[in-house]
Amino acid sequence: MSTKLYKKAEQFVVDAFKKIGNEGGIKHFLRTVYWIKQLRPNADEALLISAVAHDIQRAFREKDLSKNASGNPLLNPAMLDDHQKKGAEIIADFLVKQNANQKLIDRVKMLVSKHEVGGNTDQNLLKDADSISFFENNAGHFIEKLVPLFGKKVIKEKFDWMYERITSKKAQQIAQPMYEKALKKLKESKI
Ligand SMILES: [Fe+2]
Ligand SMILES: [Fe+2]
Repeated sequence: MSTKLYKKAEQFVVDAFKKIGNEGGIKHFLRTVYWIKQLRPNADEALLISAVAHDIQRAFREKDLSKNASGNPLLNPAMLDDHQKKGAEIIADFLVKQNANQKLIDRVKMLVSKHEVGGNTDQNLLKDADSISFFENNAGHFIEKLVPLFGKKVIKEKFDWMYERITSKKAQQIAQPMYEKALKKLKESKI
């Protein structure tokens, strides 16, 4: 399998997040790629590109749509849908500029556009890898930086949602100890 296009996509993502001063977020993307490979060793290039670029919308974030919405601001369905759909468009536009073949572009678009909620087997795989990488790399940040903003309940609901959305048994087994550790840390947090 050629990984030329994957490498270019990875560089595009890294540059975009460096530009907004969020270098810390990059680990989450690289580890999502890692977990995709663990869950499916023969994953194709479109899956790897989707894994590294799934949150690309956050590097081009416009106004926060969740601000005026009711319910948990981190789980607002309109915000999540906007996030996954815009991300799919951004990475597809990038791939068009790289003269990638249409089949690959369509597949990446299909995958990223449902990475939060899942759908078919491959969309679920990306969602599951994202959840594992979230607990591995992002949960600490949520406790330290977002609990003071939103409170423990909102963060607990986000953790529950990220864990409960996992489809495959294997991904669930990998994520479970990380999820439990995050819940414990959240509970013990003095903020
Ligand atoms: Fe996302
Ligand atoms: Fe993510």
